[in-house]
Amino acid sequence: MDEMKLAEFMGRLVADMGGAAMVASIIVGEELGLYRALADGRPVTADDLAAATGCHPRLVLEWLNAQAASGYVEFADGRFHLPEEQALALAAEDSPVYIAGGAAVLAALFLDKDKQVAAMRSDGAISWGDHHPCLFNGTERFFRPGYKANLVSAWLPALDGVTAKLESGASVADVGCGHGASTVLMAEAYPSSRFTGFDFHGPSIDAARERAAAAGVADRVSLTQAAGTDYDESGFDLVCFFDCLHDMGDPVGAARHAHQALNDDGTVLLVEPFAGDRLEDNCNPVGRMFYAASTFICTPNSLSQDVGRGLGAQAGETRLRDVFTEAGFSTFRRATETPFNLILEARK
Ligand SMILES: C[S@@+](CC[C@H](N)C(=O)[O-])C[C@H]1O[C@@H](n2cnc3c(N)ncnc32)[C@H](O)[C@@H]1O
Repeated sequence: MDEMKLAEFMGRLVADMGGAAMVASIIVGEELGLYRALADGRPVTADDLAAATGCHPRLVLEWLNAQAASGYVEFADGRFHLPEEQALALAAEDSPVYIAGGAAVLAALFLDKDKQVAAMRSDGAISWGDHHPCLFNGTERFFRPGYKANLVSAWLPALDGVTAKLESGASVADVGCGHGASTVLMAEAYPSSRFTGFDFHGPSIDAARERAAAAGVADRVSLTQAAGTDYDESGFDLVCFFDCLHDMGDPVGAARHAHQALNDDGTVLLVEPFAGDRLEDNCNPVGRMFYAASTFICTPNSLSQDVGRGLGAQAGETRLRDVFTEAGFSTFRRATETPFNLILEARK
């Protein structure tokens, strides 16, 4: 037994447990508006922050102490301030690195712990809709900043000939659209096109309708509750799957359905979490987070559906290519990537 290795490993576990506790602290700070009240960067006392947010001063002080111990805020002379970089991640809802809203996804892992234990002792199945509702808003808020930063400016232009069609008026399907973050962003950018979002989870479709109305794009967006394998509409120029194909029980069936719903010169845009093909390639912070979340959310959802392929959130390009080849697509390529996403294009 190597004492040094043990000490090092215990240090890592303590850091992980502190990180897990800080996720709860981020969720609470976001909900109470504590980060937003600190966003201007001015140093404040705990009493100042408590008064500005209507919160209990002693608990605000303890919350601030935890933020300081984690390097989220800085402190001097009894005052705390949120540096600009931290504010982008924790307070600026419109920034591309805003992560505080998406932290709610991790709350679902704890809240649904009993379901996870039961699934792991039986058939492995937990349907998306059986999770605590914090997962649904959390997912929207986790993915939206990345879509807002990249979808219109980089991902659509990386596809062959797609933006020209969108500008002149195209028909687009957003399969597994959740709360419609991607649907609404595309509809805002391309007013001459029509967008149809599909998701098998009824409450998500209701939320997506609200988002489309609030964004003023309801005239060109329709939202329908349907699984990726059984929507009726066809004649699409573009069929999109944003961070959802790996969640589906029958991704080949969904890709085959997209194949028959596409026009002959149509395109599939597949956005998936960044991953290499082998576990060895994914032993890094992004892979770690996605494998862990996928154990609780993505893989059990897939196992709860017909076929139950269980791709997992770290499927990697080769397994995703196999899905589209099996479904009858003739071309499949990596159009672009970010540190968090693979952006893949399939054509008939
Ligand atoms: C991780 S969420 C992504 C949602 C959305 N695309 C986004 O990026 O915010 C996965 C979505 O896939 C949906 N989903 C899972 N299996 C499905 C299926 N077989 N057919 C249609 N939607 C499905 C879930 O309801 C959920 O909204």
